[in-house]
Amino acid sequence: MEYGGIGLGYDPIRWCGESLRLIDQTRLPRKEVYLELRDYRAVARAIETLKIRGAPAIGIAGAYAVALAARKIKARSTAEFRRKLSRVFDRIAGTRPTARNLFFALERLKKAAVSGKDITTIRQALLEEALKIHGEEMEASRRIGELGSALFPQGAVILTHCNTGPLATGGYGTALGVIITAHRKGRDIRVIATETRPLLQGARLTTWELMKAGVPVSLVTDSMAGYLMKQGKIKCVIVGADRIAANGDTANKIGTYPLAVLARENRIPFYVAAPTSTFDFSLKSGDEIPIEERSPLEVTTLAGKPIAPPDIPALNPAFDITPHRYISAIITERGIITGPSARSVRSLLGKNPR
Ligand code: MRU
Repeated sequence: MEYGGIGLGYDPIRWCGESLRLIDQTRLPRKEVYLELRDYRAVARAIETLKIRGAPAIGIAGAYAVALAARKIKARSTAEFRRKLSRVFDRIAGTRPTARNLFFALERLKKAAVSGKDITTIRQALLEEALKIHGEEMEASRRIGELGSALFPQGAVILTHCNTGPLATGGYGTALGVIITAHRKGRDIRVIATETRPLLQGARLTTWELMKAGVPVSLVTDSMAGYLMKQGKIKCVIVGADRIAANGDTANKIGTYPLAVLARENRIPFYVAAPTSTFDFSLKSGDEIPIEERSPLEVTTLAGKPIAPPDIPALNPAFDITPHRYISAIITERGIITGPSARSVRSLLGKNPR
């Protein structure tokens, strides 16, 4: 499998043998800047500051960060190596709390570390597992695109929120992967991208990725969605997910829940596309999903410039929860869950999502 990039002319995340290469998503769309990171702390900072973001991409980057750290840990014994490695796991796990994919990846790497007998084999096992996770995520997003693309009728205008493309996944994308695949198969579709305040992932990244893919796209502010739906201008909504509880309740970028409610009110299908690494069966419902609170400065500024009175208090929950009853279907690489509920999720995915 060709790692990094799906032939759109950019390369979101790539393991380079001794370093991790990432496109700096905070500089897009104005500049295509690649970061070459050799230290796991730099990867942790890149995740916290959203240079790399999107649930599957965070998981992949977190996994490579551990592999990078393992190469540099100096230890006189395997026990000392494992102690130091455990601090690395804690640092990476502390970067962003909501995306399940990060914890999925770290759990996989912890298991890989246990299987190694000495420092050299542990280092090797960690890198192999990180590469494996990256490969699996690429393949999962390819399958999601294949399965989901049949859902869009010819001529559909599709609304999407935040960014869920190759940048967010290291592969084809989740919601955007479905859209890009449908377009590549010749389906006549157009996209409405919401800007996604406060950090404008839709305006900056989704429009950029769809233009690169040649998919017709128009940008709207988040507050325009209801008006457009009421006018009958939108045929369906598709979004990604950061964590999905056992009953199908879905955490995704703040502003997703109101879109789902609006879609229901206007009788428009509302789809979620996510790999099985996003499911968290340890949580019964969305009420248990941890929601990241980010700095109020992201709300009181726009592109680094203040837009509100100084010292105004602001709230900044980065995600919201869409109850499963608003979701028409969840598209995973293992199949489509129509009318998600604890029972339908379990019936497709069994006891373990992956
Ligand atoms: O804060 P972000 O930009 O990491 O949030 C990203 C999202 O909410 C995406 O919709 C989600 O990760 C699905 S990605 C494929």
